[in-house]
Amino acid sequence: MKNIKFKSVAVTGQDAIRTKYSAVQLGYYNDPFVQFFVQNPRKSQPIMNRGYFARVYSIEKLILQFLNVSKKIKEKNKEEKKDENFQNVVPQIVSLGSGLDTTFWRISQDEKFSSFQFRYFEVDLDQVNAKKIDVILKHKELSSIIGCEEKNNQKKEEQIEEILHGSKSGFFLDRKNAEIISSKYSLISGDLCALDSIIERMKIHKINFEAPTIFFSECSLVYLDPKYSDAIIGWIAKDFHVVFFANYEHINPNDPFGKRMLLNFEKRNAPLLGIHQYPSLSSQIQRLKDAGFVFAGADDMLSIYNRFSTSDEVDRLVIQKIQKLEFFDELEEWNLIMRHYMISWGVKIESEFIDLVSEFFHL
Ligand SMILES: C[S@@+](CC[C@H](N)C(=O)[O-])C[C@H]1O[C@@H](n2cnc3c(N)ncnc32)[C@H](O)[C@@H]1O
Repeated sequence: MKNIKFKSVAVTGQDAIRTKYSAVQLGYYNDPFVQFFVQNPRKSQPIMNRGYFARVYSIEKLILQFLNVSKKIKEKNKEEKKDENFQNVVPQIVSLGSGLDTTFWRISQDEKFSSFQFRYFEVDLDQVNAKKIDVILKHKELSSIIGCEEKNNQKKEEQIEEILHGSKSGFFLDRKNAEIISSKYSLISGDLCALDSIIERMKIHKINFEAPTIFFSECSLVYLDPKYSDAIIGWIAKDFHVVFFANYEHINPNDPFGKRMLLNFEKRNAPLLGIHQYPSLSSQIQRLKDAGFVFAGADDMLSIYNRFSTSDEVDRLVIQKIQKLEFFDELEEWNLIMRHYMISWGVKIESEFIDLVSEFFHL
């Protein structure tokens, strides 16, 4: 581990993937790729499996809704014969603090996503990404989704240009920086607290500020001092033309359960530095408005999960299925835990597309 300061927080990604693997093994959702990333697998408690299912299911839904909204924007632009450059842009998905998460691989192979084109970016510390690269290179099931490694003596910039302009179909591996660039997938290394250098790296990876983009953080920004996470959120809202943001993180630190939760993270030397400044749904919404998102909202995971069980027919059937997977008698504890997690969302969009905003956050 190159940098001791980040050691404990980098390990949190391994914990997340272990519980995701446990949930997948028990049939909570389908993920043929998680097995490659997990070390020391073990079965998690039913309450954890169900909670992780809710987390993964919600984030996946938001990504799908974002892609649908992006498609509608594109169609409308086409109808109105708007600027052709804008019509041809590919939507972008950016995972901040991606850890060992497998969403890119899953959605690349999932029929629900097959009609969409997108570029997917992941950002995490170099020590985490170096491990991810080892796993990707070791397993054909992963590497074949981004093509073959392009090896030649051309300059890095020239290789990147060729890959992104389609004359090469493989990926460029930058071992020194622990990064990967391909036309579909980019793995970017950096400290999220050093925003300028993250922006610089994103530019090297040719992120497109004009393309509809969703940024999401799944239990990642909360580890940062809020002055750094706010800087990131502010940058996203300012510099991207049409942009969506979703943040899954902990709230309610001041009740007895919240205090125990904080202590747990502190003991593991990975404190939730952001939670005190944004301890409630209303403060999370205000945070996004202050950052510049005109449309913003938030809901706790208990309400979101309960809506899954009662609203849309597809969601209802999924919930009925997963609720049968394990014996579950921890309802009180479940209600308590789920009130300590939330998803907040923000949207920046041109006024003519305002009617699409509600289609994005439909959880
Ligand atoms: C709990 S894990 C979540 C990983 C992934 N989002 C998931 O849900 O599986 C938190 C991740 O945030 C990353 N992270 C925390 N602080 C970071 C920082 N300052 N810069 C970059 N990544 C950071 C950690 O390395 C870790 O991979």
